[in-house]
Amino acid sequence: MKLVKTLSAIGLALSAHLAHAQAWPERNLIWIVPFAAGGPTDGMARDIADRVAKQIGQTIIIENAAGAGGTIGATKASKANPDGYTFLVGHMGYMGAGPSLYKKLAYDPVKNFEAVFRFPDTPLVLLVGANSRFKSVAELIAEAKAKPDTINFGNAGVGSTSHLIAALFEAKAGINVQPVSYKGAAPAMNDLIGGQVDAMFDQSNTALPQVQGGRLRAIALTSLTPMPQQYPGVAPLADKVLPGFEAATWYGLYAPAGTPKDIVQKMHQAYMKALSDKAWTAKMSSMGIHLLSDAQYGPDAFAKHTASEVEKWRKVVADAKISID
Ligand code: MLT
Repeated sequence: MKLVKTLSAIGLALSAHLAHAQAWPERNLIWIVPFAAGGPTDGMARDIADRVAKQIGQTIIIENAAGAGGTIGATKASKANPDGYTFLVGHMGYMGAGPSLYKKLAYDPVKNFEAVFRFPDTPLVLLVGANSRFKSVAELIAEAKAKPDTINFGNAGVGSTSHLIAALFEAKAGINVQPVSYKGAAPAMNDLIGGQVDAMFDQSNTALPQVQGGRLRAIALTSLTPMPQQYPGVAPLADKVLPGFEAATWYGLYAPAGTPKDIVQKMHQAYMKALSDKAWTAKMSSMGIHLLSDAQYGPDAFAKHTASEVEKWRKVVADAKISID
């Protein structure tokens, strides 16, 4: 008798769960962006959210929960109700390198999240102010060697990609710079334009309008190959200065673990429909964003990518002795 009652209770719970998933989405969705508005993560998320929202017929609200290199927003998302209404926009920093950087991280990027879909990747660019004394990356490295810890590098927060790539750059170039952390790339870039910091790595697509507008200068790329359309005359770091140096930020959408699988699938299908707009993908390419193959965008491939990145960064962080202190 007791077993029958338990089974029917399970049956009721399952059918309520199913009915809920079938009716989804009945209200607005929230995408948590763990950086300040106006930066690369925020810009990419808003662009994609607008297009996915049109496909699913509901508004997607971007909630900027900035701080601690993205880990504050990621922690919040990991604890959200897994009902298909709250998602996290994650990236290489707090969802890849995070577990190696922070001794006590409140979430596990693999165990506490469902991977939903991956965004296209973006290479980075090394930027200095329009009137900077550095005319080339070689000059910057030479001064950093002569006067260690004196050149200020802005970044989007401890553990952000701008911080990680600067740390890799320091390790490979054999220099030490002075990191200055902000709550996102947007406020860091404002200070770079204002001359409060000397240099900064930022996503090549969001930096482009500032470089084209003459407010900043690009002195190196983190892509292996040049980007003549976007950054004419700017060489990759790998070209003569730091052979083999290559970095690009990956991003993607995650849901708290336990989010119904069919909601994850519906979100992924909506994204793939949005990506079939060739005018949009051509626009992204023209800004230097790296499009991926269809298979790479999917939840399974993105889950595997996340797990492999967590492992990769354990080695990178240890080898380059990247520390968040
Ligand atoms: C980063 O460096 O991690 C991102 O550019 C941060 C941001 O989007 O503001």
